[in-house]
Amino acid sequence: MSQIEVKNVSKSYGKKKVLDSVSFNVDKGEILLIEGRSGIGKTTLLNIMAGIDHPDEGTVIIEGEDIFKMSEDKRAKFRLEKIGIIFQQMNLIEDLNVMENIALPLKLAGKKWKERVDELLKYMKIENLKYEMPTSLSGGEMQRCAIARAIANEPEILIADEPTSNLDDENTKNISELFTRINKEMGTTIIIATHDPRINHIASEIINLAREEKNEG
Ligand SMILES: Nc1ncnc2c1ncn2[C@@H]1O[C@H](COP(=O)(O)OP(=O)(O)OP(=O)(O)O)[C@@H](O)[C@H]1O
Ligand SMILES: [Mg+2]
Repeated sequence: MSQIEVKNVSKSYGKKKVLDSVSFNVDKGEILLIEGRSGIGKTTLLNIMAGIDHPDEGTVIIEGEDIFKMSEDKRAKFRLEKIGIIFQQMNLIEDLNVMENIALPLKLAGKKWKERVDELLKYMKIENLKYEMPTSLSGGEMQRCAIARAIANEPEILIADEPTSNLDDENTKNISELFTRINKEMGTTIIIATHDPRINHIASEIINLAREEKNEG
């Protein structure tokens, strides 16, 4: 059984059909890239896979459980425990410093956080930024902080939306290496939406949403 099954997922906004019966499976430990031009529906698909957004039709099954058959509360808990998310707009909380941002999911899960945050800061090589506010970080540093927060609860699945789109080559290389390391060392399944060919080499599988597009001619 695959870890994640996306089954005939369709989603429209008004008259515009963004996802048209999209189906694929993801096995545990894969690094899957979801590619396709801007506006094709990558973020929409990731949000549905994380159970943040609902499909109009179809469903998503994670480790045998249909996430859209769960109650809202159960789905939120499931997400907190199993899935780490790095949003396209990184969503670091501006009023919280780096340490507090990373501690957030640990606190929400009712876990001890101090040592774990230090461990994560070290892993991401941002120990020196512990007390900095997000607005004072560079793009690459913000991305590290967002990744640290996303993996805080040791999720089995890590979802990242355009994690390198605003980064220079060096930071892109660093972030790519981090994903590979997390995947290898923790066995985390990683799903990345991107149109950045600089990270193609880390993928074990690539899905191009454009190929799913209906020929409208
Ligand atoms: N809440 C919404 N209401 C209406 N339309 C939406 C909404 N969210 C997304 N869309 C539309 O759905 C389409 C797909 O959006 P989505 O954000 O999934 O694309 P994307 O592939 O992630 O693009 P990008 O590469 O620019 O991030 C776009 O045309 C967008 O305008
Ligand atoms: Mg997007």
